[in-house]
Amino acid sequence: MGVENIIIRNEMPDDYEAILRLTYEAFLTLDYPGRRRTDEHYLIHLLQNCPHVTPELCYVAEAEGKIVGHILYTRSAVVRLDKTELETVTFGPLSVLPKCQRQGIGRMLVRHSMEKAREMGFAAVLIDGVPDYYPKLGFVRARKYGLTLRDGSSDDSFMAYELKAGALHGGGTLYFLAETEFERAERDDDGFWAFHQAFMRAYYPGQAGGPPAV
Ligand SMILES: CC(C)(COP(=O)(O)OP(=O)(O)OC[C@H]1O[C@@H](n2cnc3c(N)ncnc32)[C@H](O)[C@@H]1OP(=O)(O)O)[C@@H](O)C(=O)NCCC(=O)NCCS
Repeated sequence: MGVENIIIRNEMPDDYEAILRLTYEAFLTLDYPGRRRTDEHYLIHLLQNCPHVTPELCYVAEAEGKIVGHILYTRSAVVRLDKTELETVTFGPLSVLPKCQRQGIGRMLVRHSMEKAREMGFAAVLIDGVPDYYPKLGFVRARKYGLTLRDGSSDDSFMAYELKAGALHGGGTLYFLAETEFERAERDDDGFWAFHQAFMRAYYPGQAGGPPAV
């Protein structure tokens, strides 16, 4: 499939179930040391109706009427050393259907949505993501700007893209406004397994979906 056949459009409420499945299938392909499980579809579920989601920046990529990619944004904020605040945004999950990966769809979704974020007046995009991928789209390590997360860390996965030149100059601390949902997706084991088992029964009947035996 060529990217010339891809349509990028805003996410609509009816897309929810397709996005859940897409997110699950895409993130099955992601692995890194210490990864506990595939829980990004649970995050999509938790972010439904979250006031910090920025719907104008949530897009799907469609090919022949089928959703093959998705990007979701939430608001974030940088508090500078002088206590002034910058309005920023954060994307993720970002998903491309496994059979459509490495064909430029992820790049299209990121570029398109970041242009819209710039038009909307956000200062920068700050993400916690795959360290090798985003530098190809122009992101740099956030520590280059003197930025840290709330716990003081600034790992390779913490990356920044200025939408207004010089906006991040001077550094500061990044706050994810949807932090509660992000944390819950990773840490709420009971909630995750209850959601995931129902998800598997609904969309992948007959496939295993239970918690690991202890
Ligand atoms: C990561 C993901 C969104 C990228 O989308 P994609 O459509 O496959 O990527 P693109 O084709 O737009 O790739 C753009 C560039 O990044 C590279 N790239 C793609 N995936 C990469 C990865 N996981 N690691 C490193 N580089 C990657 C491509 O080779 C390409 O590089 P090039 O311009 O030098 O050729 C997609 O592969 C995916 O859904 N993966 C599973 C879920 C995931 O990891 N999401 C992001 C978590 S933060």
